[in-house]
Amino acid sequence: MGKILVVDDDRGLRKGIALALKRKKHDVVEASNGLEGKRALEKDAFDLMITDLEMPGLRGIELLKVLRELSPETIPMVISGFGTIEKAVEAMKEGAQDFITKGDSFSIDELEVKVERLLKQKHLKDENRRLTEENRVLREAVSRRYQFKNIIGKSPALRAVFARLEKLIEDGQVTVLIRGDSGTGKELVARAIHFNGPRKDKPFITVNCAAIPDTLLESELFGHEKGSFTDAIRTKIGKFEAANGGSIFLDEIGDISLGLQVKLLRVLQEKSFQRVGGNKTIQVDVRVIAATNKDLEKAMVDETFRPDLYYRLNVVPVTLPPLRDRREDIGLLAEHFLAQHRRERHRRIQLAPDTLDVLLKYDWPGNIRELENLIEQMVVLSSGEIIEPQHLPAYLVEKVSTPYSLPAFDGHLTLKGAKKRLVEDFEKRFIRSALDRSGWNVTRASKEIGESREGLHRKMKRYGIHRSNR
Ligand SMILES: Nc1ncnc2c1ncn2[C@@H]1O[C@H](COP(=O)(O)OP(=O)(O)OP(=O)(O)O)[C@@H](O)[C@H]1O
Ligand SMILES: [Mg+2]
Repeated sequence: MGKILVVDDDRGLRKGIALALKRKKHDVVEASNGLEGKRALEKDAFDLMITDLEMPGLRGIELLKVLRELSPETIPMVISGFGTIEKAVEAMKEGAQDFITKGDSFSIDELEVKVERLLKQKHLKDENRRLTEENRVLREAVSRRYQFKNIIGKSPALRAVFARLEKLIEDGQVTVLIRGDSGTGKELVARAIHFNGPRKDKPFITVNCAAIPDTLLESELFGHEKGSFTDAIRTKIGKFEAANGGSIFLDEIGDISLGLQVKLLRVLQEKSFQRVGGNKTIQVDVRVIAATNKDLEKAMVDETFRPDLYYRLNVVPVTLPPLRDRREDIGLLAEHFLAQHRRERHRRIQLAPDTLDVLLKYDWPGNIRELENLIEQMVVLSSGEIIEPQHLPAYLVEKVSTPYSLPAFDGHLTLKGAKKRLVEDFEKRFIRSALDRSGWNVTRASKEIGESREGLHRKMKRYGIHRSNR
């Protein structure tokens, strides 16, 4: 089924064609001359236009030109009483896809067959265009995911990283070594380097070097020839070949064996390698992005990491600072992860200021991954809109809690009263710890904290501090 415009000043023929096409369930619009045809094209979108060539006013050839301007997707087909080769050639030059003659040789069946064929072609083309477009949108979505705007942070430390990344991305070639503690975003940055750079339409292949046993890692990276070892039933392409034209991300590079380090060095230097059990040299164009949280300098001293590979990898190091060294990013990241949950779970949810306070003070040994997981955990565990400190795991609150928390407001609490309580509490703890240090020698403790012996005794009595009730 298609939408078809039939333009012909020969009323009988036009009606005949229209009727035949309508019977075939097409949606047909008729025009009795070129100008009318033009108007129809301005108003509607057609899959196909069948036009006569010889018409008063706007001629068929001119209408074809108009069609190209107004509606290039519509397929033109011509029909003419003077079916000469020259006419056909001229019409084809103007884009007509097929030609049919009037007069004795005219056959409505032939027209129908041609119309069906052209419509089918058009549908295929449309589908193709749609898929290409869909592909483009998807690809864009993928690369958008890894744009810098998804690497959250405004700390000077992270800005310095961004500046370096921009240079690296522009270059598109140089080997990158990403360093940083666990969960600092090494993989995220590796993806950003690939998906923002000139290789973005080519593969990005990840190999976790620590997860694969050494013997398998070699064939994983370089592939193997059939029969090269017992399990090698058929020839296998390695990750380096699979990544050709794109990037390979060698995660946990600090974990590979000395033997493989030699082979890797060769790939980095010569861009070539051999499959396991093969003797053919294979050339590839692959950008290597490596990452590790290991102390490679120490590994070199320990002779578990080859210095030549180290220097070859470390051409441009990118070091991601731990989260505790960029506390100004904690709030931003927390908000970023919360916003994701708001979108995904359709929940209005936010952190209470006290909760954020705790997060800001915590040391984040697991860095951003720990923060991301914690936010998710709290979103799941809290049922209201506000995440309160009590939703935080106890270990975390304990780690950041100071001995002085605000006394609970009980309706009677004045500033003076609260201060008194806090001071008393402080004095008790302070004196106790001084006595602990002096082995409960009151004279020595009083000297240490600059109080008289009598004064200290008085306070001990007042607060009921004895060695026995420590
Ligand atoms: N700056 C950032 N902005 C937003 N999300 C981040 C940022 N850094 C890291 N993340 C997120 O934190 C998580 C951990 O990051 P990633 O996996 O890249 O860390 P990693 O350094 O590779 O960790 P590991 O050494 O444990 O493999 C990921 O979900 C990542 O998207
Ligand atoms: Mg990682």
